[in-house]
Amino acid sequence: MTGYWFNGTGHPDWRYTLDDFKSDDESMANCLGLARLAARTDLPILILGETGTGKTMLARAIHNSSRRAAAPFVAFNSSALSDTLLDSQLFGHEKGAFTGAIRRVKGKFEQADKGTLFLDEIADMSPAGQAKILRAVEYGEFERLGGETLQEADVRLISATHLPMARYLAADHFRKDLFYRISGITLRLPPLCERPRDLRTIMATAIAAASRAQDKSIVGLSREAADRLLEYPWPGNLRQLQRVIHTAVAITEGDIIEPDAILLEASVEEVRAGDGTPPSSAAGTGALADDDDLSLRAAEARHIHQVLERFRGNKRRTARALGLSRSTLDRKLAGH
Ligand SMILES: Nc1ncnc2c1ncn2[C@@H]1O[C@H](COP(=O)(O)OP(=O)(O)OP(=O)(O)O)[C@@H](O)[C@H]1O
Ligand SMILES: [Mg+2]
Repeated sequence: MTGYWFNGTGHPDWRYTLDDFKSDDESMANCLGLARLAARTDLPILILGETGTGKTMLARAIHNSSRRAAAPFVAFNSSALSDTLLDSQLFGHEKGAFTGAIRRVKGKFEQADKGTLFLDEIADMSPAGQAKILRAVEYGEFERLGGETLQEADVRLISATHLPMARYLAADHFRKDLFYRISGITLRLPPLCERPRDLRTIMATAIAAASRAQDKSIVGLSREAADRLLEYPWPGNLRQLQRVIHTAVAITEGDIIEPDAILLEASVEEVRAGDGTPPSSAAGTGALADDDDLSLRAAEARHIHQVLERFRGNKRRTARALGLSRSTLDRKLAGH
């Protein structure tokens, strides 16, 4: 076991523990050290880190390394919550609680009893969701929808987000009282570009695993191919690296990966330039071209599209980041 559990398929072995992680880079090694300490406690843990840095996987590894390992790990995507289903999803409902409630259903808190409840994308949680989670964690009890008795659940909370929590707190998008409740220990997963010492090992392990999974016999990379990977900034972190290597292995016919098999996504600027759109206009450089529309209205539209791009087209998050309601965003996107 090398310490990196790429299996080339994107489906890791869910039994891994913190012993399967290692790092030669200080920031990651510190994060892992703190994670090991945290795993031995029952404190709520908050994991911060850019997209694709491995937050979800770390959360599961902490659970698997904790005294709760034999009990369930229940993951829950906070941004996928709709306010109408909130109570039922979090706390469950009794038979007949509403039309269509044909049987009693356990909510996430109850499902995770004695185990770990993982609240992914926590910064995306709606104000109603935040208030409900706060109540449940503060008092350790909740009611099933349509139920008459208070339920208790013994869960350890792990939360994660790739969003800038400090800014969300400052802008009152996230409740401070909830923040203090969920962040007994805060772990910061460094982006891949801050792990230069680990990069070669991660690459080699990913290649070996992808080669095995695809029934290939690839032994490594040419020097130029390795340089391309080592110089790339990896904005999508480990997830992106795994995808790039998976593709490189798939299209390589010999036993060495050559540079032309390394398909790195063009930057937004390059894609736009290829489109014939000047990169200076909406691509995020901030510079304006001579022929750009200089009106405030046009600037606003450019900004909205940049933010939309940042959140990969997710309008709910875009509206939130812009401080607009969803309907105002829709209106602005429609050009009214
Ligand atoms: N320690 C690791 N070693 C090797 N690969 C890893 C590691 N951690 C994560 N990965 C790879 O990165 C991918 C993304 O991991 P994960 O889903 O945990 O990231 P994330 O930080 O939760 O991302 P997001 O913010 O998008 O939810 C995984 O599918 C896996 O392929
Ligand atoms: Mg995740």
